[in-house]
Amino acid sequence: MRIAPFGVEQWMNEWETGAVTNLAETCVDSMTLGELLDIDGSRDSLGSAANLRLSYGDIKGSDELLALIASLYENQSSENVIVMNGGIAANFISMFTLVEPGDEVICMYPTYQQLYSIPESFGADVNLLRLRHEDGFLPDLDRLESMVTKRTKLICVNNPNNPTGSLLREPELRRIADIAGSVGAWVHCDEAYRFMVHAPDEQVPSMVSLYDRAVVSCSLSKCFSLAGLRIGWLVGPRHFIDEVFSRRDYTTISCGMLDDLFARAAVRNSKKIFARNLAIVRSCAAMLDEWVDGEPKVDYARPSAGTTAFLRYGCEIGSEDFCRRLFKKDGTFLLPGRCFGNEFDRYLRIGYAYSPDVLNVGLRKLSDFLRDLEREGL
Ligand SMILES: Cc1ncc(COP(=O)(O)O)c(C=O)c1O
Repeated sequence: MRIAPFGVEQWMNEWETGAVTNLAETCVDSMTLGELLDIDGSRDSLGSAANLRLSYGDIKGSDELLALIASLYENQSSENVIVMNGGIAANFISMFTLVEPGDEVICMYPTYQQLYSIPESFGADVNLLRLRHEDGFLPDLDRLESMVTKRTKLICVNNPNNPTGSLLREPELRRIADIAGSVGAWVHCDEAYRFMVHAPDEQVPSMVSLYDRAVVSCSLSKCFSLAGLRIGWLVGPRHFIDEVFSRRDYTTISCGMLDDLFARAAVRNSKKIFARNLAIVRSCAAMLDEWVDGEPKVDYARPSAGTTAFLRYGCEIGSEDFCRRLFKKDGTFLLPGRCFGNEFDRYLRIGYAYSPDVLNVGLRKLSDFLRDLEREGL
């Protein structure tokens, strides 16, 4: 089996650990275990965890965790949920279940590369639904309608979108469901950033509530600030989750007792954690917006949700050189647009929502670097 190198992850692997000012981070300000337990009022459970016998634990995940995850969605129960080690494993196993050689798959682009490179590696014919800057990186759904055929097995969506921060709202999600329904296709919607919508009081439904052949993925990494707990999940129709389970037996015995224990503390307190994180995300988004307004060399389609934005710059230097030079100058770390495809070589993905302090310092350093380039006539 051949598979394309995962551009974003390879860049992160190579550079992230040495970063001084990390503007590539996509998680919201990671929590310590102590912070999590304080939010849950259960610091003592750390002591009682010492008595846990470290077996595989509940193979499926504890009943409580499955029920808590189901409660994040409308009209879903534990039978509609399967837990995996992170959203990345959840995405993988969904595709592993759905996609066969020769299937047609349509995937929005740019997005998290897994969503198109995995189906491609399984022998699917993958067609990309290109998101355009001038459309605010929202898909042209007439185009999607013209792309589907009777052979279309799966439409992959990422909502909110990484890297652009664009957000599909209910009418667009319903239209995608209708288009998929017209040819009996599945929709896999990666909702890793779903709970971080910027506009106060705006909520966007999960795709799984809108379509009976939808499967959605999410995890504790981004919106819960707990990437160190490797817990992600799929939510979908029960018969599909059963199918996924028979494949999971080959990849994942269990997700770990300690991860399950602390995941329960997190999801029990989702409201409190989302309130903490939305305050961070919104204030960082406002800071970024002000910076973009005042920075003549940079523009963007303002993100509506999530923690990332796609900055377009007007300098004569490719995005990988840009990021390497910036990193070498003072340890400021950004992700080159080229990791998402050659056509995005004048873009940078910024992860702006880790913390306001980091963002503040990073944007100043980025402006200094842009002035360096100007002086060089770039
Ligand atoms: C859209 C999207 N999906 C899935 C993942 C996987 O993250 P995790 O496995 O930590 O849930 C990421 C991580 O960057 C992501 O951005």
